Amino acid sequence: METYGAKVHPSPSDFTDFGKKLLKENPKNTGSLGIAISEAIETCVKTANTKYALGSVANHVMLHQTVIGQEVVKQLEMIDVEPDYMVACVGGGSNFAGFSFPMLGQKIKGKVQTEFLAAEPVCVPSLTSGEYRYDFGDTAGMTPLFKMYTLGHDFMPSAIHAGGLRYHGMAPTVSLAVKLKLVRPVAIEQKETFSAGLMFARTEGIIPAPESTHAIRAAIDLALEAKKKNEKKTIVFNLSGHGLLDMSGYASYLGGKMENSC
Ligand SMILES: Cc1ncc(COP(=O)(O)O)c(C=O)c1O
Repeated sequence: METYGAKVHPSPSDFTDFGKKLLKENPKNTGSLGIAISEAIETCVKTANTKYALGSVANHVMLHQTVIGQEVVKQLEMIDVEPDYMVACVGGGSNFAGFSFPMLGQKIKGKVQTEFLAAEPVCVPSLTSGEYRYDFGDTAGMTPLFKMYTLGHDFMPSAIHAGGLRYHGMAPTVSLAVKLKLVRPVAIEQKETFSAGLMFARTEGIIPAPESTHAIRAAIDLALEAKKKNEKKTIVFNLSGHGLLDMSGYASYLGGKMENSC
């Protein structure tokens, strides 16, 4: 971002009252998406001519991202393939929803039998261990309430590398799909995700983002299970981003210094 002229301040920052309060309580606060959202909203409210565009969680964001899943449906139609599984990682839920909701619509209409897996970190288990209830979308409690799976808006995630998955809640639409058992959540350990990321980089030539490695791990595990049972399965997963912004994560994994850390 700074390459293109932005100035980036790590959150929690001393630019907002909420950030200052948190830093006073704990100068080593490792931040979270919930805290960053609170700081962004506070800055927006206090600064003239400033707007805040939500990047995940809210329903319109899920809808916007479905351009991905509509293309997936078309591409699979073109090769006449019905996937057995569709897999994506989940932070706030947008890449998962965008990727899978169009096919999930087909499933609800009885046109396909596809199973959907949402991969989250063991350290931030909103879908696998959270409560389904109303909660704030940010840590300070400035947003409207969302009905979702949540670990509580003051949940402090441990400092795993997949920063984009360090969020206490989950999109209401994704949460409802899990509640209705249309989507199966799986929780994955950090080192397992990096081993999958490394395998993917070596075989495909793309270094995946730590967030995306959760989807890759879940897809590999499904493939291994099918192999064990001597079954043929079609597994489609979403590669949500590249990992060039977290070389230190790969360095830590390759240097044997990484821990599962929660
Ligand atoms: C590469 C990548 N994948 C996934 C996510 C998770 O977000 P969402 O669940 O909204 O797709 C993020 C969030 O920052 C991300 O950077």
